[in-house]
Amino acid sequence: MKIDPITPMLEAIHQRFSADMSGALADYIPQLAAVDPRLFGLALAGVSGRVYCAGDADAPFTIQSASKPFVYAIALADHGLEAVLERVGAEPSGEAFNAASLEPTTGRPFNPMINAGAIVTTSLVGAVGPAERYERIRAVLSAFAGRELTHDQAVYRSESDTGDKNRSLGFLMRSAGSLRADVEATVDVYFKQCAIVVTARDLAVMAATLANGGVNPCTGVAVVSDQVASHVLTIMGTCGMYDASGEWLLRVGLPAKSGVSGALLAVKPAQFGAGLFSPLLDARGNSVRGIASCREMANRFELHLLNYPGRPSPATYLDTTAALLHSSKRRDAAQRSRLAQEGDAIVVRGLQGEITFAAAEEVLVACEQLSEQVRWLIFDVERVVALRRSGRAVLDALVRELGLQGVETVIADPGRRGLVAGAAEFGSRDTALERCEDALLETELPNQEVTR
Ligand code: DON
Repeated sequence: MKIDPITPMLEAIHQRFSADMSGALADYIPQLAAVDPRLFGLALAGVSGRVYCAGDADAPFTIQSASKPFVYAIALADHGLEAVLERVGAEPSGEAFNAASLEPTTGRPFNPMINAGAIVTTSLVGAVGPAERYERIRAVLSAFAGRELTHDQAVYRSESDTGDKNRSLGFLMRSAGSLRADVEATVDVYFKQCAIVVTARDLAVMAATLANGGVNPCTGVAVVSDQVASHVLTIMGTCGMYDASGEWLLRVGLPAKSGVSGALLAVKPAQFGAGLFSPLLDARGNSVRGIASCREMANRFELHLLNYPGRPSPATYLDTTAALLHSSKRRDAAQRSRLAQEGDAIVVRGLQGEITFAAAEEVLVACEQLSEQVRWLIFDVERVVALRRSGRAVLDALVRELGLQGVETVIADPGRRGLVAGAAEFGSRDTALERCEDALLETELPNQEVTR
């Protein structure tokens, strides 16, 4: 059975903007002025690996500046954030993509999304010589797209023949010390990287790979680490749309990157990537219909990253004690009666979902309500799908704190994932409960002195 309500939604957005022929083709690279201005394609790739398309989603075009985030990802993977930041900044420039301005004190380009920063980033791709450098870029961009990409020789030549502005940026940066590689060779690799041919479908999969923590959701290949993907998305969020970046984040609220070919990609982390193509550009060099469609998608699908997401589902789904919930171990009448009377000393809590910092804090706050008589706290974590680093830190501290206050924490986890440090782990709620019941029954009767 094929169920696909998403394609018709994309088609509706495509339909809504298809008649808008405003804007102009980029003509500073002569080959780009020869593109059919009617082309208009949209694609959405989910982290599920499914791709939905509308219009000319398979029409080829050169990636241009939409290559910049992916080459930045290679530089980060090769050198780490600190080393890369020494050479290329992370501040929105508020200027056009080809502006010839560098940070006054350091000579660094402002960010890796403008041409100057992207040229330095290209020079940072680890390789022996320009041929190998370009081949690495091509191979990594192919892994992001999930298919072998190649460059368009005519567009590359066309930009190389007319690209003196970028060469001049290269020489400016070399004299300022921020570009340390050979200018001609580096700019040549940059021109070739910009001429790599993609489709809107490819851009969607590349964006979805960033959305999916660096793992291509269609091929399953881990292209970059989740931390590199996160750094790249951050820069796209603040600098991806050049001098329109602030307003873009305000209105659309998604990390994005445009290119003068009319390429646009946008990312909703952990959900999907969007690829858009329409070659008619606004005054800032961004695709008119790409921007309009992306804005529409963001509104229709409520994608703005900073919108209030609503309260998450509660972290605790079960809260009871051994007075009510018993292990399956057979107990004699005296033991049963004692457990009925003193079972409140054993609290059983079921945790669920993803334990983030906020979820762990919820568990912590609930523990403040524990009565004085509690001696054992069983966390059944079977339904916990993930324990985030920050959530783990809070839970580990909670276990330590409870221990100091005389409460022993016990974990029930059939997956035996060792999620919480300093707590005994059992393979089921039943065995955890049995162990705590045994411990309670081994303690002296509370009123023994009086009855003796
Ligand atoms: O550096 C250039 O001029 C182009 N190859 C890429 C620029 C670009 O795509 C700017 N995007 N809006």
